[in-house]
Amino acid sequence: MTSQSTQSSHLPDGTRLVYGTATASYQVEGSTTADGRGPSIWDTFTARPGTIKDGSDGSVACASYERLDEDLELLAGLGVAYYRFSVAWPRVQPTGSGAVEPRGLAYYDRLVDGLLSRGIAPMATLYHWDLPQPLEDAGGWPERATAERFEEYAGHVVGALGDRVDTWTTFNEPWCTAYLGYASGVHAPGRTEPAAALAAVHHLNLAHGLAGRVIRSLAPASALSVTLNVHLLRPASDSPADVDAVRQADGLANRVFLGPMLTGAYPDDVLADTAPVTDWSFVRDGDAATAHVPLDVLGVNYYTPAVVQAWDGVSPRAMADGHGASAATPWVGAGHLEFLPQPELPRTSMGWPVDASGMAELLLRLHRDHPGVPLAITENGAAYPDPVGADGVVHDTDRIEYLRTHLEAVGRAIDAGVDVRGYFAWSLMDNFEWAYGYDRRFGLLRVDPDTLERTWKDSAHWYAEVARTNRLP
Ligand code: FCB
Repeated sequence: MTSQSTQSSHLPDGTRLVYGTATASYQVEGSTTADGRGPSIWDTFTARPGTIKDGSDGSVACASYERLDEDLELLAGLGVAYYRFSVAWPRVQPTGSGAVEPRGLAYYDRLVDGLLSRGIAPMATLYHWDLPQPLEDAGGWPERATAERFEEYAGHVVGALGDRVDTWTTFNEPWCTAYLGYASGVHAPGRTEPAAALAAVHHLNLAHGLAGRVIRSLAPASALSVTLNVHLLRPASDSPADVDAVRQADGLANRVFLGPMLTGAYPDDVLADTAPVTDWSFVRDGDAATAHVPLDVLGVNYYTPAVVQAWDGVSPRAMADGHGASAATPWVGAGHLEFLPQPELPRTSMGWPVDASGMAELLLRLHRDHPGVPLAITENGAAYPDPVGADGVVHDTDRIEYLRTHLEAVGRAIDAGVDVRGYFAWSLMDNFEWAYGYDRRFGLLRVDPDTLERTWKDSAHWYAEVARTNRLP
């Protein structure tokens, strides 16, 4: 996402923004055995009983692998400037290393050309959670070799698609990969090993830096980004204990990635907080510096704020962090943190409290802490029940209201001087929502669960109008 690609348009407050929609390979593609695709950790995880709320998997998903042309036409109809999608590593390298599967790569080649021919800029994420299973069998992200394999994979994909991709994103939400995958176990590969989760954090940072350099050298005209689910954490009170609880959660959630990626160093307090879990001896000299490759844009996914307090160790512990129920905590080494439920706020079908002011607060904080780093909201949106009306249409006024209030918050942040380049609605269409399966619908487009037919919800019409006019109708 380069500055030249910013449309000359404005929100009511005079902001300039580009609009897009986002998806991820495993959530929409289906065809998980087509054209030589190898198994990913999500194929394995979903096959294990009890992992997915509705017992489903991504083998069909939205069948976007088969319906590429139809989906390209839908994107063109929406009139978005950008499409953010992810490349499935096991399509490109079925075993995660070695030979490239040309048929898998060809799909993304067609996708990129199909976008460009319709005037839509491609924003490609190299990793949105679907690790080739053989790499997990060899130890997964807690192993340094996985970062080295990722560097090779990046070379193949960026070598093939190169500058045709407007913006390359190394990772989507490495927080989820590390902590939900290896600590709480609610995401693939479903391991609950706190020390391994921190090793995964490090190897994701390292892999980001290695791949970032590959992107810089092979696609010098493309923009470079990473997408983080930077947590907006508010203290329950201004007591020193609650303020320190936020410091610790912020370290684990945010600064453990922002530090290496944006400044080339791990925060000392995070290393100290987690010392009982690991000595971080997997970090080699120069690794943190390698993780630092200046970004053209930092992608931020925002859905909901969290309220943190220090647990007294006696009362029942509240863990309303929005990250799924598990006996094992994703908050590695932070056994005294509580996340309060925020009953005063409305909720989406995910149970996530709705508070658009958190979006502006988060953008302002990132701007203050990292001035000069352009930002984009790479995901924002809401799951709602979405009943089909008597007229056959989903009248999702709740989703429109969610999007409107969050776009207004982006506008306020821009007015306050934050450099926000773009906004991506999650998601283009209803899809496989990880541990929740198809039971949580985030789409602007409805996908019929039986026929896979796509239909426009009211929010799709609304968003198309926003993208066309850069105004909030
Ligand atoms: C984010 C993921 C995305 C989607 C939304 C709802 O954490 O990046 O794939 O599942 O949540």
